[in-house]
Amino acid sequence: GPLEEMSIPLYFGWFLLSSVQDKVRCTSMDFLKTLDTLEAFKKHMTDFTGKAEKEVDLEQYFEAKGTLHCTTKFCNYGKAEGAKEYVQNPAVQDFYGSTFELSLSALFVTPRTVGARVSLTEEQLKLWPADAEKEAESAVPAAASLPLGSRAHVTLGCAEGVEPVQTGLDLLQILALQQEGQQGELVEEMELGPLTYYGEGRWLLSLREPICAPACFSSFYK
Ligand code: A2P
Repeated sequence: GPLEEMSIPLYFGWFLLSSVQDKVRCTSMDFLKTLDTLEAFKKHMTDFTGKAEKEVDLEQYFEAKGTLHCTTKFCNYGKAEGAKEYVQNPAVQDFYGSTFELSLSALFVTPRTVGARVSLTEEQLKLWPADAEKEAESAVPAAASLPLGSRAHVTLGCAEGVEPVQTGLDLLQILALQQEGQQGELVEEMELGPLTYYGEGRWLLSLREPICAPACFSSFYK
């Protein structure tokens, strides 16, 4: 296939088509704007500022990071563990350049990152590395016991000095809490769906109607 002669990229992933990128960015900005005004959020503002009385402008707090995508495999030009094996996976070869419909099922915010959870289909899971969750074990001990695909997300922004790899770890942390039976605190029903607080600055908005995002499976070189 065409991938055989190619050098290994920085990462593989689904890249959102440009029309839906705008829609997702707008939805995320609206969410941050609304969250910022909620009394419940203000009550826990110190999660973000470290100080009482200090205000935070969430729209300014996070920096956007390039084109919106859902990373499947971070290869680091072949240096990452399992990179060569991933490129040889027949599904990766077959689906390279194909368009998929990703389902964005939730938005989440922490003091470090803002992202969208991606709920993968059986077919999409064929492109998902078997050890993606397990690799996060040092940061999130319960990660390996979460279902395959739990880490799938789109990074929408990072706080100053935070690397995008953190977004998937933040998502896994929230899902691990849910798996342990922590329901979180249902804060309110927002227009887009229920908003839940999981402590330590972790907020999850489950989308009543998931966003359907067409995305091309491809790779990125810097
Ligand atoms: P994410 O998928 O959360 O957005 P960078 O710009 O830091 O080199 O990262 C390039 C992309 O690869 C980003 O999308 C980033 O995070 C993802 N990424 C970086 N490091 C890792 C890693 N160790 N494991 C999984 N994904 C990673």
